[in-house]
Amino acid sequence: MTDSRSHWDSAYNAKGETGVSWYQSGPSRSLELIKAAAPMRGTPIIDVGAGASRLADDLLVAGYSDLTLLDVSEVALSRTRDRIGGAANKVAWIVADVTKWKPTRTWWIWHDRAVFHFLTDRAAQDAYIATLRQATVPGATVILSTFALTGPEKCSGLPVQRYSADSLADRLGPDFALDTKDTEQHQTPFGTSQDFIYAGFRRR
Ligand SMILES: C[S@@+](CC[C@H](N)C(=O)[O-])C[C@H]1O[C@@H](n2cnc3c(N)ncnc32)[C@H](O)[C@@H]1O
Repeated sequence: MTDSRSHWDSAYNAKGETGVSWYQSGPSRSLELIKAAAPMRGTPIIDVGAGASRLADDLLVAGYSDLTLLDVSEVALSRTRDRIGGAANKVAWIVADVTKWKPTRTWWIWHDRAVFHFLTDRAAQDAYIATLRQATVPGATVILSTFALTGPEKCSGLPVQRYSADSLADRLGPDFALDTKDTEQHQTPFGTSQDFIYAGFRRR
């Protein structure tokens, strides 16, 4: 975990929360998809590779009460912890590499924006998918957002694997039924745009 952790800790230390290319002032697409899949505010939700995203703030404001944030970077999570202040004790915090982490419970919503696409190695992808299976139950919703086939080839200096919703479905395998597919042109803080996909799956 150390190499990956130090890469991401350095990225957040160097650029801050709002200077990274993936920064969103309001992660509206993720919020919409989660709200559609989880009308009950007690639904267990995990944001994998949550970084310093404001999704947590928005989910807490919306009233979600069972929220877990996981990231390999302690620096990223501490930004969110500091930002949300007193609400921090309503969140479960996990500093871990998702490809090595052993979940001890399950969630009904698994959300990942711009994390799975960093796994360019098939073994690491398989490890992620095995963890995803362990951490969810049949009927759970899995929302994955990656760079689209027309998106950048790198992010944060690292190569990425780009996907369509269908190629992502192929990679996840038959245990995950593709329910929704969507695209987004993300506007970076530097005035460039990046093509993302959002794919929603139902765990079989
Ligand atoms: C491009 S950022 C996206 C952050 C957040 N999801 C968002 O949309 O703002 C990728 C995040 O994944 C985290 N990350 C990268 N590899 C990871 C891994 N193997 N396990 C857990 N987190 C990881 C990084 O620390 C970083 O916060």
